[in-house]
Amino acid sequence: MKRQNIVHLTQTALMTAILIVLGMIPGIPLGFIPVPIVLQNMGVMMAGEILGPKEGTTSVALLLLLVAVGFPFLTGGSGGIAVFAGPTGGYLLAWLFAPLLISSLRQHFGSRWNWWQEFLMIVLAGVLFIDVTGSLWLSWQSHIKLTAALMSNLAFIPGDLIKAGVAVAVARQLRRVPVLNLG
Ligand code: BTN
Repeated sequence: MKRQNIVHLTQTALMTAILIVLGMIPGIPLGFIPVPIVLQNMGVMMAGEILGPKEGTTSVALLLLLVAVGFPFLTGGSGGIAVFAGPTGGYLLAWLFAPLLISSLRQHFGSRWNWWQEFLMIVLAGVLFIDVTGSLWLSWQSHIKLTAALMSNLAFIPGDLIKAGVAVAVARQLRRVPVLNLG
C-alpha cells in the first residue's frame, strides 16, 4: 500500500474516532422539537474542513454505517437503523453530504480565502445546508409545518455558528502543519 493511502486511511479513521468521541458528549434537549443540540455536527464540519472530499465523506459514512448496524455512537447513545427513519434522519442524511460539499468548495475556491470567507462557506454548507435538510425531513416525519420546523431550527443557529467558528479556527491551524499532509 502506498504511503499516501496509509496517511489517508489513518486520517479517515481518526476523524471517525473524533466523531464518536463528540457523540459521547450529552446533547441538550429542546423540548419543542425532538432534535437536541449536539456537538457531533462540529465533527462533520471538521471532516470537510480538514480532510479531502473522499476522506471526509468516508469518515462520516463510517460513523453512520456503525450507527446503522447498532453501535450507540450518536449523541445520547442512540444507534440502530431506526434512527435514520426518526426525527433526526434528515440531519444524518445531510451529515453524509456536508463534508463533500465543504471540502470540494474549499479545494476549488478556498486557496486565498480569509478567515471570514471560509467561515461564511461553512455557515452555508455546514450549518444552513444541514439545518434546512433536517427541517424538511422533520416537517414530513413529525407532521410539523415546514415553517414551524424551520423556525424551531433557529434555536440551533447560535451554537452552530460557534461550532463553525471553532471548526474553521482548528482547521486553519492544522493545515499549516506540513507533516499532517491535510486535504
Ligand atoms: C442524532 O443524534 O440523531 C442527530 C442529531 C442532529 C442534531 C442537529 S445537527 C444540526 C443541528 N444543530 C444541533 O446542535 N442539533 C441539530
